[in-house]
Amino acid sequence: MYLPSLLRSLGRMGIRVLALASPLFLTGCDFFNAIWRMDGHQSTIVVAGPVARAQRDLFYVTCWVTLVIFIIVGAVLAYATIKFKARNAADEHAEPPEQGHGNPLVEISLIAASVFALVIIAIPTLKAIWYTYDVPEAEKANAYEVTATAYQWWFKFEYPGEPIENVGPLSTSNELVIPAGRPVHINLRTVDVIHSFWVPKLAGKVDMIPNRGNRLWLQADAPGYFWGQCAEYCGDSHAVMRFRVIALGKDDFNAWLAAQKATARTVTATAAAGQPRAQFAALKEWKRNEPGYTDKYDRPDLSPLDNWKQMQAPNPNEDAALIAQGRKLFQEKTCIGCHTIRGHEGVGITGPNLTHVGARTTIAAGLLENNPEQLARWIRHPDQVKPGNKMYNGGYIDVKTRKPNFTLTDADVTALVAYISSLK
Ligand code: CUA
Repeated sequence: MYLPSLLRSLGRMGIRVLALASPLFLTGCDFFNAIWRMDGHQSTIVVAGPVARAQRDLFYVTCWVTLVIFIIVGAVLAYATIKFKARNAADEHAEPPEQGHGNPLVEISLIAASVFALVIIAIPTLKAIWYTYDVPEAEKANAYEVTATAYQWWFKFEYPGEPIENVGPLSTSNELVIPAGRPVHINLRTVDVIHSFWVPKLAGKVDMIPNRGNRLWLQADAPGYFWGQCAEYCGDSHAVMRFRVIALGKDDFNAWLAAQKATARTVTATAAAGQPRAQFAALKEWKRNEPGYTDKYDRPDLSPLDNWKQMQAPNPNEDAALIAQGRKLFQEKTCIGCHTIRGHEGVGITGPNLTHVGARTTIAAGLLENNPEQLARWIRHPDQVKPGNKMYNGGYIDVKTRKPNFTLTDADVTALVAYISSLK
């Protein structure tokens, strides 16, 4: 009577084991990928660089070893459950079968098997720890250096190899642009609490710890657009502390660097409607699974990378008068105290550098799409989008009195949006 239900639960368990083990069959296998949807934006299974690949392969090794242990232990348990089950009233009151103790052969075999399993896991683990710790020696000369600094709740990215005269290293925020096919050495810093830097498709998480320099390295196999995320609880808006990594081919990357080093664009009535930069003008349609394609973003007709490239070009319908008004409001409403806009009035360093913010695909630390609608939403209600942030607490309102420091009318917001969007 109990046997059929036991078999049924064993069957159900088998299905669960298959479901859990399915990642094991994924490598190079689109069929399982399609079924289990393992290629999300933050997939650690469908990866795009050697560091993430080493970490994924290590995960597979651990999975295989534990799967073998699970099957052996499960089989012995199932055998014992069926074989020694009480089958009638007499069985239930019978003496237990003779118990075995201290069989040296069994005990030594079990210890040896455990040690063997641990060694199988330990060797690739140690190799992966050494490999992922820093750029391999042979590649060091080719490595590109970036410094990532975490703030509650956004990321600053600096390029020590790209100094700007009288300013310091080139600095940007929330969208890290890197050369594809080249190792990138990232110094990890924080100005406040512990954060963690994580780009699942490129490299696993490493903490950013106060007063301690950490590092990681990553490399993108090909140009692409990747999703990143703070992976250590860091306060109210930890869950919305995101970022992007954009990997570009050599020419695109150099063009991007040159554009970023320039001071902020000034739109005048005669020079409005700037021309798209030549290197980004030729857009290519990417197909799914083609190198460079990651997933669709806010433009369903464009890949995220092409959408990013589109963002580099100035909007052809710019209103110079409105932009000038926005620039004036940016000073009057004290935005300049916290944000740098190099070449314009902004000099603050509390918030993200906005010199070329209009050329990013996202705002509010990778949370909202960078379009006029979302920009207006963010400027109007930063506290609702990202609770606890300093732009609201201390900027919009006085922290002590909770009274507004200033008010923004709808017209103010429209002008500010026009100005910020023009900063390509
Ligand atoms: Cu920063 Cu969580």
